[in-house]
Amino acid sequence: TDAFTYDPGFTSTASCQSTLTYIDGDQGVLLHRGYPIGELAEQSSFMEVSYLLLNGELPSKQELENFSTTITRHTMVHEQLATFFRGFRRDAHPMAILCGVVGALSAFYHDSTDIHDPAQRVIASHRLIAKMPTIAAMAYKYSVGQPFLYPDNSLSYTGNFLRMTFGVPAEPYIVNPVIEKALDRIFILHADHEQNASTSTVRLAGSSGANPFACIAAGIACLWGPAHGGANEAALNMLREIGTPDRIPEYIARAKDKNDPFRLMGFGHRVYKNYDPRATVMQKTVREVFAELKVTDPLFDVALQLEEIALNDPYFVEKKLFPNVDFYSGVILSAIGFPTSMFTVLFALARTVGWVAQWNEMITDPDQKIGRPRQLYTGPTQRSYVPVTER
Ligand code: CMC
Repeated sequence: TDAFTYDPGFTSTASCQSTLTYIDGDQGVLLHRGYPIGELAEQSSFMEVSYLLLNGELPSKQELENFSTTITRHTMVHEQLATFFRGFRRDAHPMAILCGVVGALSAFYHDSTDIHDPAQRVIASHRLIAKMPTIAAMAYKYSVGQPFLYPDNSLSYTGNFLRMTFGVPAEPYIVNPVIEKALDRIFILHADHEQNASTSTVRLAGSSGANPFACIAAGIACLWGPAHGGANEAALNMLREIGTPDRIPEYIARAKDKNDPFRLMGFGHRVYKNYDPRATVMQKTVREVFAELKVTDPLFDVALQLEEIALNDPYFVEKKLFPNVDFYSGVILSAIGFPTSMFTVLFALARTVGWVAQWNEMITDPDQKIGRPRQLYTGPTQRSYVPVTER
């Protein structure tokens, strides 16, 4: 009797029209506003990609400068926010803190919550992009018991984030340009990915008219899951658990076992049935960061060998399971000095630009309606209430 299409997991439902990001999963192609992710990762900057996603075109030199300056002007957070942080336990997961703090932003910035005012939408967008590094760094500082650092607007977006995270007031912090570039590239790789679970969450939340800060907080909550953004943390924890290459076959066997819930973290993707183009750049970046820091990590060898074994195993070949963006990112982030609990926070920081751009696109879409899926009801048919004494 129901005339609805049953599509659990929305594997074949287009929820919106979008001009932001194109993915050809069979070919392993990812384009932002038409530009290949590989070219953007190599040649662009996170600020430039943010401008591109928000405005549709690459900026001129002047436009980029103006945009960066505008973002820079919003990097500080309301002083009262520091008090809000102090209410959390020191051992709280930084993603828990991020969900809470970003969820509370509308309480601090209610002058940019009117979604019908285009000027307020712009300010809210800039605020979110600019304040995420500050909030992310504060979450880290809080967990290690060090003082919060104010932003330094003479630094780049990513350099400033590195300083707020790893710097201390007692001494100057010198940003390593190679690390800055590598992290900036990681941010580019995470900036947007069309209608993934968290972006769909942001759009769904936004479709009811909720304010942008609340919508992004909803996206952060969704991103946290290990099947989504939480996979970078889970992937590195998995590599640690495997520990040495000789134990890889045991984990491959577990991943293939239908009775074992274990999956290879950082492997497989709903859309990519080919190598995730972001993983290619990520793998290359691992080598650059190691060379610069003059370190190696035995876990990188475990990851490389795990990939090689999986890509030659009929199970992974038939199911077209390849490494995704989260497979190699953890090795780099941990070499830079981030604890695993911060990995998904970094993903959220970078994806904020995609969420914000998608939210803006949705708000200005003339076809926009409240998102309201239907269901196939499989419960009991109508029946009469029986008083508890008669049950
Ligand atoms: N290890 C072992 N088997 C897998 C894996 C894996 N990582 N991924 C998928 N499969 C199998 C799965 O068991 C299923 O087998 P069968 O058809 O026999 O039931 C088949 O491959 C298809 O999997 P699915 O779960 O139906 O596919 P999906 O599109 O619903 O899920 C996914 C996609 C990313 C959630 C899944 O591949 C996965 O759980 N991967 C591990 C977590 C991960 O790395 N997530 C990050 C995704 S990329 C970045 C991001 O979104 O944050």
